Amino acid sequence: MRPFKAIGDFFDERFEMRRVLREFADHNVPDHVNWLYCFGGITFLCFLIQAFTGILLAFYYQPTMDDAYSSVLFIMEEVPYGAIVRSLHAWTANIMIIMVIIHMLRVFFHGAYRPPREMNWLTGVLLFFMTITFGFSGYLLPMNQLAYWATKVGTEIAGAMPFVGSYVQVFLMGGERISDATLTRFYTIHVIILPVVLSLFLVLHFVMIRKQGISEPL
Ligand code: HEM
Repeated sequence: MRPFKAIGDFFDERFEMRRVLREFADHNVPDHVNWLYCFGGITFLCFLIQAFTGILLAFYYQPTMDDAYSSVLFIMEEVPYGAIVRSLHAWTANIMIIMVIIHMLRVFFHGAYRPPREMNWLTGVLLFFMTITFGFSGYLLPMNQLAYWATKVGTEIAGAMPFVGSYVQVFLMGGERISDATLTRFYTIHVIILPVVLSLFLVLHFVMIRKQGISEPL
């Protein structure tokens, strides 16, 4: 433990790290908090696992119609621990969606959306849609039959929206049909846009929780 203490002291002398960390982390959990309150934290843990395993997958995955499926097969069969990393990514994606739904129900049935937490509920609604979009955009990436047809159905549903549907559909697919352009768009949404935007909204979510505290039971 000695080297860790020495590193801690080094940063503490220069940046008062311990005081800053204590200010951030030291706070009393109210007595009424029980296991029902853990689902937001589990959702966050899922997100961290997704980010870590996703970065590892990105070392090998190739987002083109010709190479996507074979690069996924390569990850599963040739890359050391590739099958474990990919399975963790896929399973945690499903678990994250289940956890966020349970978290949302907990918040709803405890009435924690009421003032002063309305803005945090709204931030949560956006986080929910981003989580779903994460799942949908990731589903296409292996470019197997299931992925292809699910994306076809999904983009056609978007296309059925009144007035703007056809524009949204062409925008999502990068043209009239599923092609390299579609894959590039879904990949960009999945690995750049959503991680950045979701992280920003998580910071907002956590700052508001810290400012307003955990709600009292009804
Ligand atoms: C990526 C998704 C999300 C993560 C990681 C997350 C994380 C958290 C955490 C760690 C807490 C504090 C502990 C707890 O109450 O569970 C919390 C509280 C809260 N969350 Fe979320 N959340 C997410 C999505 C949502 C959604 C979808 C909603 C609602 C639509 C929501 C609304 C709230 C509200 C209102 C609170 C304050 C609860 C209270 O004070 O009792 N969150 N969230």
